[in-house]
Amino acid sequence: MKKNQIENLNIPKHVAIILDGNGRWAAKRHMPRTFGHQAGVENIRKITLAASELGIKALSVYAFSTENWSRPKDEVDFLMKLPGEFEKKFKDDFKDYDVKVVFSGRKSHLNPENLDILERIMKNTADRKGIVLNICFDYGSHAEITEAVKAIATEVLNGQLKPENIVADDIEKRLYTKDLPKLDLLIRPSGEVRLSNFLLWQAAYAELYFCKTYWPAFTKKDLENAIIEFNKRDRRFGGLKK
Ligand code: IPE
Ligand code: IPE
Ligand code: MG
Repeated sequence: MKKNQIENLNIPKHVAIILDGNGRWAAKRHMPRTFGHQAGVENIRKITLAASELGIKALSVYAFSTENWSRPKDEVDFLMKLPGEFEKKFKDDFKDYDVKVVFSGRKSHLNPENLDILERIMKNTADRKGIVLNICFDYGSHAEITEAVKAIATEVLNGQLKPENIVADDIEKRLYTKDLPKLDLLIRPSGEVRLSNFLLWQAAYAELYFCKTYWPAFTKKDLENAIIEFNKRDRRFGGLKK
């Protein structure tokens, strides 16, 4: 698709992608799963820059789930090294594109080195004005909503909030994504058709797009195809067609 054709389309403000299929992509090449994860992390760079060029304001990527700890230790150990690599390798490109990086996820299970890296990346990019890349790392919607509920329960206990006054917005403003635009489009590559505990609250009225490509092979063209499909959807939000 030519640049001006896509520019005439309605560009979703907030897009989320489940980075799935790294292992199968590697297996197809007779390579270990870690080779797929390596290629997968590299693709975060490419697709972030592509999303920025397309005018997307926020991109959330699901990089490690609260359930992924159940994988073999070697694989988890490898995945836990990726934030450090990400920091070193992506620095320059992200600076050129003015990418602001934020992280969503539990802080209770990550090692101190990784917590330092995540903090540092967020601090160093906090004033950037370009696309926001929200990396969901040790993220799970159930944990996220549970944390919100605990915070609300504490406020009720302290007398700061009355149960009868609790509204959906009280939950929303305690989610990791509270500063991001509403989720418009959620993409899952790799052929799986499920959400796997990703942005369950936020996806209430997002458009869902599934494609077969494995994440390491997912290109700007695939992202454009998702946006073209998004433009064909009739978003009614429970109302009637305009
Ligand atoms: C996604 O790829 C990366 C993570 C979940 C960390 P997978 O590792 O799930 O790859 P497949 O789905 O087994 O191919
Ligand atoms: C979802 O993929 C999590 C991430 C991509 C980080 P999984 O491969 O872990 O999900 P399932 O097991 O297929 O549901
Ligand atoms: Mg998978």
